[in-house]
Amino acid sequence: MAMPFESKQEMDVSVRPMREADLVEARRIFRVAFGTFLGAPDPESFFGDREYVITRWKANPQAALVAEADGRLAGSNFLTRWGSFGFFGPLTVRPELWNRRIAQRLLAPTMDLFAQWGVRDAGLFTFAHSPKHIGLYQKFGFWPRFLTAIMSKGVDRREAQAHKYSALNEADQDQALSACRKLTDSIHEGLDVTSEIRAVKDQDLGETVLLWGNDSLDAFAVCHCGEGSEAGRDACYIKFAAVRPASDAERLFDYLLDGCEALAAERGLRRMEAGVNLNRSRAYRQLLRRRFRTDIQGVAMHRPDLPAYNRPNVFVIDDWR
Ligand SMILES: CC(C)(COP(=O)(O)OP(=O)(O)OC[C@H]1O[C@@H](n2cnc3c(N)ncnc32)[C@H](O)[C@@H]1OP(=O)(O)O)[C@@H](O)C(=O)NCCC(=O)NCCS
Repeated sequence: MAMPFESKQEMDVSVRPMREADLVEARRIFRVAFGTFLGAPDPESFFGDREYVITRWKANPQAALVAEADGRLAGSNFLTRWGSFGFFGPLTVRPELWNRRIAQRLLAPTMDLFAQWGVRDAGLFTFAHSPKHIGLYQKFGFWPRFLTAIMSKGVDRREAQAHKYSALNEADQDQALSACRKLTDSIHEGLDVTSEIRAVKDQDLGETVLLWGNDSLDAFAVCHCGEGSEAGRDACYIKFAAVRPASDAERLFDYLLDGCEALAAERGLRRMEAGVNLNRSRAYRQLLRRRFRTDIQGVAMHRPDLPAYNRPNVFVIDDWR
């Protein structure tokens, strides 16, 4: 006899690391899941020419998980390891399998990986209007704090003094990576985004802009540029940027943003995109002054329920997507 509701336990679900052979289907599910949730007319083409799945898997295949249900790919999750800080996402499940606890099956080993990596603070970016999303992540100890704004503006051509990581020789690149690590550590102990700088260089996703002071690094920005990166066609997306804590941090932040815009202009890109947590209030206000406007906003959820580096005097751009 047909049952009116299938039991949530009936499917045979397993979770394992993502393999190269999973990429095409994982990417299809990622697009369809977001496209369906957001009501896009053609969910399969959601996200256009922005790439997240293949690039993140290549950057760290150990940090991508898939769930299989009854032998077919059902969903995936990506983890990002930034030293003592980690975040996860995009987390996606095939829409016809929603509410069967598949996301939770992916999240349990995600938490195990964070623990293995010694991640002290973890976070995520999610839809502030969705009780389901907030409730799901609360089950894993994440709590909503401030909004994160995803902002954009047109590119104005600007002169800039910034240096490019890709133009350095190998020894200078190593020195630059150490300087970036030192800078982020001074903002939040153990924060280390050098894996992003390497991924951008190795996969030719964009450029890292460096602003040197007299004897140390003042600021840097990891930018994705154009099609096949997280920016998409015509855009420069500041994936992570930071200014060393200093009395003139606001001025340095402006110089850094000039450097990013100059890079975009040089590559013929027309749109800047940057995300900022609203508790980084000085950075947020400066983006507003530079005529960035919010396109979408989500909420940052934290584990433990502490600000980590989302604090008013921190000049950092990132959004944990
Ligand atoms: C978000 C997504 C990954 C969740 O996957 P899923 O497999 O449907 O999620 P699960 O079934 O494991 O968990 C759903 C949980 O949401 C929670 N939930 C749902 N509605 C809720 C509500 N109104 N209040 C509180 N919690 C709620 C419950 O805890 C529920 O689990 P339970 O039934 O065991 O109690 C999936 O819907 C998806 O792919 N969405 C589109 C892409 C997306 O939004 N990704 C996440 C971006 S941050």
